[in-house]
Amino acid sequence: MIPRNKKPENRPADPNFSSGPCAKRPGWNYKTLQTALVGRSHRSSIGKGKLKEVIEYSRKVLEIPEGFVVAIVPASGTGAMEIAMWSLLGARAVDVLIWESFGQRWALDIKQQLKLNSIRKIEAEYGKLPDLSIVDFNSDVVFTWNGTASGVRVPNGNWIETNRRGLTIVDATSAVFAMELPWEKIDVATWSWQKALGGEAAHGMIALGPRAIDRLETYVPDWPIPRLFSLTRNGKLNKNIFEGMTINTPSMLAVEDALDGLKWASEIGGLSSLIERTNRNAEVVSRWVSSTPWIDYLCADSDSRSTTSVVLNIVDQKYLNLDETTQRMVINNMLELLSAEKAGFDLGSHADAPPGFRIWCGCTIECKNLEALFPWLDWVFFEVMKPNE
Ligand SMILES: Cc1ncc(COP(=O)(O)O)c(C=O)c1O
Repeated sequence: MIPRNKKPENRPADPNFSSGPCAKRPGWNYKTLQTALVGRSHRSSIGKGKLKEVIEYSRKVLEIPEGFVVAIVPASGTGAMEIAMWSLLGARAVDVLIWESFGQRWALDIKQQLKLNSIRKIEAEYGKLPDLSIVDFNSDVVFTWNGTASGVRVPNGNWIETNRRGLTIVDATSAVFAMELPWEKIDVATWSWQKALGGEAAHGMIALGPRAIDRLETYVPDWPIPRLFSLTRNGKLNKNIFEGMTINTPSMLAVEDALDGLKWASEIGGLSSLIERTNRNAEVVSRWVSSTPWIDYLCADSDSRSTTSVVLNIVDQKYLNLDETTQRMVINNMLELLSAEKAGFDLGSHADAPPGFRIWCGCTIECKNLEALFPWLDWVFFEVMKPNE
């Protein structure tokens, strides 16, 4: 074993561990974008063809069942979630599940922007899941499948009623392409290109199941729907949007990159391979955590621990004795050193989370790069904390 106070010699070949935009797929380079339809209309037949291909590949790779419709929408994951909430909520009471920053955002939208009164917040602190057993499926239920900021996810969909009356509106941004999603338990799922497949940020995706489509066609919310959010025309689902006629103009460069990621995903074996790669990465982290006394997971329960956005805390006593401002300084110094050494980028915890680290372990990350990162984390910890002094 390398002594922890010795600077490691090997760096990760790809030191990008950000939780979004995430690392590019192995082998990606700028030539990938040479076939992008730049300077052409997205409404040309070739442009529409590419947009449709993104939709079809997404359906195929994510194994989205018949009966669901899928669209590319503006404004990334946030846009997709806000489109869903603005278009569908208000018909029933809402249970919103909050255990980190993203759930918190959706709750604020529902309360402060849509001004719904019949909203129940079901909350838990960072590192924990709220009590899923009290969720009322007569209400619409809004939740994040994987809480990117706290590294806590729902373990499965067993707690969701199959014969529910409300809709389940699921922010699956950091869960898709990495975790099993039981589509029969989901009425709406949203995600963005910038996450698991390492696409360029810009656009979001929305999948609507039959019950969500029915809600769209039978209910009109009493708040204004911006044109950018509009999924219907004359009271019916606007099918064109789900065939690649995007609501507004997309970046064809980003489209090409999204297609590249989806084709790679398909070529390496589809969803099961993506999940396997993610799980293997999460296991590599787990081995390091078990053999490293100064670090531990924020999420104590392994069943609800994220396999994509893995959130870690320093548990060394000398560090725990510091106040939070000094703890943040320690983490920042460690991150700066990692970055200066080009050994690891962007692996600080989310701004709203307790001070710590967040290491993305999705399918575009290679195990060997994680393995090369850990001696550097050990080294920067010893450099900054000098724990034996
Ligand atoms: C769970 C979750 N939801 C929504 C978002 C927002 O996504 P975007 O920044 O692509 O709009 C993120 C981004 O990290 C996320 O992790």
